[in-house]
Amino acid sequence: MSGLRIRPETPADADAISALTTAAFAGAEHSDGTEAEIVARLRAADALLLSLVAMQAEQMLGHVAFSEVTIGGQDRGWVGLGPVSVLPARQAEGIGSALIRAGLSRLQTTRRGCVVLGDPGYYRRFDFAVTPGITYPGVPPKYFMALTWEDPVPQGEVAYHPAFTG
Ligand SMILES: CC(C)(COP(=O)(O)OP(=O)(O)OC[C@H]1O[C@@H](n2cnc3c(N)ncnc32)[C@H](O)[C@@H]1OP(=O)(O)O)[C@@H](O)C(=O)NCCC(=O)NCCS
Repeated sequence: MSGLRIRPETPADADAISALTTAAFAGAEHSDGTEAEIVARLRAADALLLSLVAMQAEQMLGHVAFSEVTIGGQDRGWVGLGPVSVLPARQAEGIGSALIRAGLSRLQTTRRGCVVLGDPGYYRRFDFAVTPGITYPGVPPKYFMALTWEDPVPQGEVAYHPAFTG
């Protein structure tokens, strides 16, 4: 996409990210409407490990957040992807993919793996896969996927930052 620029969020972006997240999830059937609050809570808790925005000229078209997760109650250097949001009128143009790929590329050098809770039909294109031994309680296993940059893969139940779960 021409003119799309992906950069880390700045303090001035917070309101626009909140509005964008609310708009993106408004029509999502799996949404509970709290995704903008999740991002705000993570930021307030200094738990937003990486927060990228996609800009075209001065307009914000997309956002992705990454935050730390534990596996088996321990910090294993893993992160959780999400929420990820694209402006409804601009979905399915590759913006979400560009944000996710940019985030994973940055994190791959410093982190050991990433988990995501979401639609396997979307996330498998980034090589996320249901991974034996990496579990998340309360959701059907096919919706919880991992992308690992280490071998062997750690085993255990994943927990998001307390600010994520509220
Ligand atoms: C999900 C989302 C971030 C994807 O970003 P995007 O820029 O629209 O998607 P991309 O252009 O990168 O990818 C488009 C592809 O993803 C598919 N896709 C988009 N949203 C999808 C979804 N929720 N589930 C499954 N597939 C999805 C499209 O059908 C398209 O498939 P194709 O490449 O096989 O034709 C965006 O659609 C969005 O903000 N949705 C509402 C909020 C949401 O559901 N966030 C994710 C929560 S897990």
